[in-house]
Amino acid sequence: SIPVIVDCDPGHDDVFALWFAAGHPALDLLAVTTVGGNVALEHTSRNARIALTVAGVTDVPVAAGAAGPLVRPLETAEWIHGENGLGGPELPEPTVPLDPRSATELIADTIAASAEPVAIIATGPITNVAVLLRDRPELADGIREIVWMGGSTDRGNVTPYAEFNAWVDPEALALVVRSGVRFTMVGLNVTHRALVTAAVRERLVAAGTRTAAFGEELLEFFCRTNDEVFGMPDGPLHDPVAVAVLADPACVELRHTRLDVELNGSETAGATSVDLDGMLRREPNAWVATVLDVDRFWAGVAASVARLA
Ligand code: BDR
Ligand code: CA
Repeated sequence: SIPVIVDCDPGHDDVFALWFAAGHPALDLLAVTTVGGNVALEHTSRNARIALTVAGVTDVPVAAGAAGPLVRPLETAEWIHGENGLGGPELPEPTVPLDPRSATELIADTIAASAEPVAIIATGPITNVAVLLRDRPELADGIREIVWMGGSTDRGNVTPYAEFNAWVDPEALALVVRSGVRFTMVGLNVTHRALVTAAVRERLVAAGTRTAAFGEELLEFFCRTNDEVFGMPDGPLHDPVAVAVLADPACVELRHTRLDVELNGSETAGATSVDLDGMLRREPNAWVATVLDVDRFWAGVAASVARLA
C-alpha cells in the first residue's frame, strides 16, 4: 500500500477525505497535518482529531501547521462549514491528542521513518507543503508525489475564476508547482461531479456505524449550506476526490499539462490557468484531473467509511 500523509483543513469534505484514506486498503495513512483554511487552525486541528476519534483511528499522529497563508491574511469559509468548521453534529471531545511537533517536523519524521517515498494528499490551502519545500528542500526526494484538491480548469467557487483553496494561498500553490515534485491538481471541474445526492447519502451511511451516523449529520448540514450559498442542494464533496487519485487511480483521468496560478490579477487572483490545449507552448508541469468515474468513486468512499468504527 502507498504511504500517505493527509494535509487538511476540516471542513466537512476534509473529514470524508480522512475517512476515505484511513479506511482504504491501498493506502497507509501515516500522519495528518492541519492548516488554517475553512476555519482557523485551532478548529481545523481539533476537527481532524475529532474525525479520527469518531472513526476509531487512534494511532495516526495529528500535527498543526500554518495558521495562515504565506503572504496574505487568512480568509475562511464559515458560510459553508459553520462557525467551528464542522457544523451539524454535536462534536465529541477528541481522544486523539495533538502531536507537539509542527506539521513540518511531523512530515520530516514520517518521511525519514518510511522505507518508501511518502505521498502527500492536500485538501486545503497548500501552505504547509509550501513551507516544507521552502524550508526543507532536501525532503523533496522523500515525497512520492503531491495530490491537491483545489483550483479548476473552468470557473471558481469564491470568485468567478478562483477556487477557495487556490484563492486563499496562491503563492503557496505557485511555490509547490515550481518545486519539481510530481503534482496533481484535482479541481472543481471534477469535484463538481461528486454530488451528494439522496442516493449517495444513503449509500454513504448504509454501514450503520458510529462513523456513518456522524457522517450523515455532517452531510445534512453541508448540503443545506451548499443549497443556501450556491443553490446546490446536492453539495459537491470535493476533498475525497483527491484521495481517489491514489486509492483507486481508475476513478480519475489525468492530463499532463501546464498549470499556472494568477497571483496579481485585479479580478482573478487565485485563478488556476490550465493550458489543456497547449496554447502557451510551455512545458507541462502538472497532472490535472479531467474526468471522474462518479459511481466507482462513491463505491470506494462508502466502502472505506464502512471499514471504520
Ligand atoms: C475546497 O474548499 C473547502 O471549503 C473545501 O473543504 C474544499 O477543500 C473546495 O473549494
Ligand atoms: Ca478542504
